[in-house]
Amino acid sequence: MDTRTLGTTGPTVSALGLGLMGMSDLYGAAEEAESIATIHAALDAGITLLDTGDFYGMGHNEMLLRDALRGRNRDNAVISVKFGALRDVDGGWNGSDLRPVAIKNFLAYTLRRLGTDHVDIYRPARLAPDVPVEEVVGTLAELVEAGHVRHIGLSEVSAETLRRAHAVHPISDLQIEYSLISRGPEAEILPTARELGVGITAYGVLSRGLISGHWTAGRQTTGTDFRSQLPRFAGANLDRNLALVDALRVIAEARGVTVAQIAIAWVLARGATIVPLIGARRRERLTEALGAATVTLTDADLAAIEAAIPAGAAAGSRYDEAQMAFLDSERA
Ligand SMILES: NC(=O)c1ccc[n+]([C@@H]2O[C@H](COP(=O)([O-])OP(=O)(O)OC[C@H]3O[C@@H](n4cnc5c(N)ncnc54)[C@H](OP(=O)(O)O)[C@@H]3O)[C@@H](O)[C@H]2O)c1
Repeated sequence: MDTRTLGTTGPTVSALGLGLMGMSDLYGAAEEAESIATIHAALDAGITLLDTGDFYGMGHNEMLLRDALRGRNRDNAVISVKFGALRDVDGGWNGSDLRPVAIKNFLAYTLRRLGTDHVDIYRPARLAPDVPVEEVVGTLAELVEAGHVRHIGLSEVSAETLRRAHAVHPISDLQIEYSLISRGPEAEILPTARELGVGITAYGVLSRGLISGHWTAGRQTTGTDFRSQLPRFAGANLDRNLALVDALRVIAEARGVTVAQIAIAWVLARGATIVPLIGARRRERLTEALGAATVTLTDADLAAIEAAIPAGAAAGSRYDEAQMAFLDSERA
């Protein structure tokens, strides 16, 4: 697997990272033994970047990762952890707590659950309105100084916030949704990250499965699958978005690759410091996603893809209204 370096100060990681979220939360039931087998298969294939969050399954995801790394060399893995999100017993979202004491508390629990003495990249999942980003990064810089955290990352922040944060302490990477149907970051965020020397870990590269080629109009989502709340997966929006996937399928088939592979390869082609996070929960999906790493898109391919799915073509916003309100990256 090729490697990419996250920004000027960040770690060098595999060109594709593995995101573990769906193994504990948000995408309906997952099977633990298969999740661990998928993490092992990813490590064996050369994936080093493993992305989790302390709130994914309220600690379950970190304990799953600890179990998967048992007997493996932890130092070969670059563990990226998101923190700060507040949840309730029903899985609901109650904003973020980014006070210094809260961050230190989150980290203490995370280190214990992971069974490690440091997190490689530590990042707030969302900002909190009552704590300026400078203060959050200042707290994280103390944790770097103490050796508990190696690098500071951010998630879903605007270009201006990234600039303010980076002035306090170097930011290794910004994690943000970026795909053929979520191209908002291209206007300001990606150019600013490039200018500052900040890497990008792109999530939602398959738009949570919507543009994977495996989603169908008739697929039922259960109550624990939060895609049932996402506007892009609903009603007429879904039909329009699946029509985009059909257009992409024509190009993928002509190239002899799958829809998921061409969608991931497109993100890889958008910049040398962009690392797509793959949300595979099963080995079969992982194998397909890994195939994207060897797909080289020509200028003609890129032009055909752009014609099939022009920027802004998606129907519906990427989160529901309540979740959109938490996104600093969406502020004008
Ligand atoms: N910073 C943030 O705010 C944020 C937000 C969300 C996620 N993330 C991170 O990003 C990671 C990636 O998650 P995502 O939802 O953005 O991923 P994604 O790759 O856009 O979607 C993953 C979904 O796509 C489906 N899929 C179909 N074919 C696939 C294939 N070949 N390979 C992989 N998945 C395939 C999966 O299938 P099945 O349904 O069949 O399993 C899964 O439900 C997460 O695990 C998390 O670490 C970060």
